Amino acid sequence: MINPPPTTEGEMLYKEKCSKCHELRPPLRHTANEWPTTVDRMQSKDPLWISDTEKEKILAYLQANARK
Ligand code: HEC
Repeated sequence: MINPPPTTEGEMLYKEKCSKCHELRPPLRHTANEWPTTVDRMQSKDPLWISDTEKEKILAYLQANARK
């Protein structure tokens, strides 16, 4: 049996939390240096929807897959 690629918690949270208000914006949209500012801004729009812990996990996923 072929194993599917591992899905991290960060990726799952990203798909759930970041598709609420708009279509998912792919990690390639920003570099790893740019993502923290954007994710902070997204969290501040609805802090009850994205907790600090969730934000850290989402950010780690985005930065790992960001534009080089
Ligand atoms: C509460 C609603 C809401 C949630 C949740 C949300 N966004 Fe957004 N997002 C917006 C709005 C509104 C805009 C357009 C205004 C702006 O850019 O601040 C936007 C714009 C963006 C942009 C384009 C602007 C830029 O800086 O490139 C990106 C990328 C983005 N969101 C990514 C994300 C990611 C990643 C998440 C999950 C962590 C997320 N969003 C969660 C509302 C949301």
